Amino acid sequence: MSEAATSLPQDGGDEQTRLRKAICRISALAYERGFTSGSEGNISAKLTDGTLLITPTALMKGFLQPHHIAHVDMQGRVVDGGPSPSSEVGIHFVAYEERSDVRAVCHAHPPHAVAMTVAGIDMQMPIIPEAVVSIGGIPTAPFGIPGTPDLGETIREIVRCSDTMVMKNHGSVTLGTNLIDAYKKLDMLEHTAHILWLAHTARGGLEPLPPEDVKRLLDTRRELGFTNLNTLENRCGL
Ligand code: 13P
Repeated sequence: MSEAATSLPQDGGDEQTRLRKAICRISALAYERGFTSGSEGNISAKLTDGTLLITPTALMKGFLQPHHIAHVDMQGRVVDGGPSPSSEVGIHFVAYEERSDVRAVCHAHPPHAVAMTVAGIDMQMPIIPEAVVSIGGIPTAPFGIPGTPDLGETIREIVRCSDTMVMKNHGSVTLGTNLIDAYKKLDMLEHTAHILWLAHTARGGLEPLPPEDVKRLLDTRRELGFTNLNTLENRCGL
């Protein structure tokens, strides 16, 4: 996929100005697409100096302006006297701690993906070819209490082997090399979950693709140059 399709248009300005605007755009998009409601969700991007820009706690994420975005160091201290960060900054810290390749994290509450975890349906099952090739399996992380510092620990193990996951009964976490990459995985995760939900409802169960087709899809993913970590190629103890 070309760089043009994996990064936001450059608006000019310094890195922080660009990323503040980009977080607001992705936040608004996630809200408009129904991936969050009210004040749900949080999005972050890592700056080259190692500090973090992250959505503020408790504001409606569909209507953010660049000055609403919090700026924190990796200990969670606000560095510029600005807004307080998300109460779930811990999940973002864990992603950046475990993965030096990650530069952006999106947390949302996409309804079909969350419904699948409420119903206890495994979204790692390889069923939709496009999802197998581009995002791989979608593992479920154990339940944690939203808005608490401990929430991050529930995803630590899965983050080591997957860019895409859903915290049980709560919401998705997607990791990217930039904001649009993390958002793309959120978009695909919910689209896949929606299809699986419809199929499950219509049929009363889901059936994986035969192993030989899964193998051909995983070969195709390598040939197409997809390198993002995923639990179909690395089960990571799951
Ligand atoms: P924050 O507004 O503190 O980021 O919390 C939003 C959320 O998604 C809670 O689950």
